[in-house]
Amino acid sequence: MTVLESQTVGAYSGSGSILLEGVRKAYGSTVALDGLSIEIPAGEKFALIGPNGAGKSTTLKLLVGLLRQDAGTISIMGHPPTSMEAKKMLGYLPEDASPYATLSVRENLEYVGALRGVEQLRDRIDKMLSELTLAEYERSKVGKLSRGNRQKLAVALALIHQPRVVLLDEPLNYLDIPTQERVVQMLDRLNATILVSTHIMSIAERLTDGAIVIARGRKVWSGSMGELQAQAQPSESIESVVVRLMTGAG
Ligand SMILES: Nc1ncnc2c1ncn2[C@@H]1O[C@H](COP(=O)(O)OP(=O)(O)O)[C@@H](O)[C@H]1O
Ligand SMILES: [Mg+2]
Repeated sequence: MTVLESQTVGAYSGSGSILLEGVRKAYGSTVALDGLSIEIPAGEKFALIGPNGAGKSTTLKLLVGLLRQDAGTISIMGHPPTSMEAKKMLGYLPEDASPYATLSVRENLEYVGALRGVEQLRDRIDKMLSELTLAEYERSKVGKLSRGNRQKLAVALALIHQPRVVLLDEPLNYLDIPTQERVVQMLDRLNATILVSTHIMSIAERLTDGAIVIARGRKVWSGSMGELQAQAQPSESIESVVVRLMTGAG
């Protein structure tokens, strides 16, 4: 399929470049997603917010085709998550990402970059190492890195091929504040559709256009970050607004 054709397919399926409709997913008797519907327009950056166990990681794993839903439909730019078209567009940072421990930082990037067919790979790797202040560790084996530096590498691996659709599961875990800031700025500059799961509101506020709040596998609120902020009382934190929205989930 040509680029033009795939764009046509994406446009044809509606405005949502990331689309879930009535998605249900259970692990045995545990219902993780209970009829979840989400739509993220192409080019927008959204946060997926919710407490532990809300279903954030499950949602992202379904979107990258690592899991299959029990019911409902999912598409990425009009393509099923398991399709070649979707795989090519996606960049995914899993929860507890683990780069290849026996390879060095640079070797990891070379390997994944080559698999992804990245052009001018050496320049691209140099740029990412410098942006994430990883250059001094480029020859270190991943097994010897601190958890924070391993997370930085995992972020770089998810973005090395400049994906059009970026799915990040708690990307700022293990990162110190200056590095969090650097990653947020890097994501901010990306020209991509982004869905980032987090339970840290300040990330959502700084990074994203919109927010989707989920609890117990259901959507309890969605809208722009500004609308979410507007729901706060004068002295109320955004966190407590989200708690209020979540506890109203029933
Ligand atoms: N592999 C699994 N096996 C059984 N239950 C799971 C599995 N993964 C997640 N769950 C359950 O599904 C629900 C949603 O989990 P998850 O998607 O990881 O939520 P979140 O990322 O928001 O913390 C939780 O109740 C969790 O315990
Ligand atoms: Mg999770």
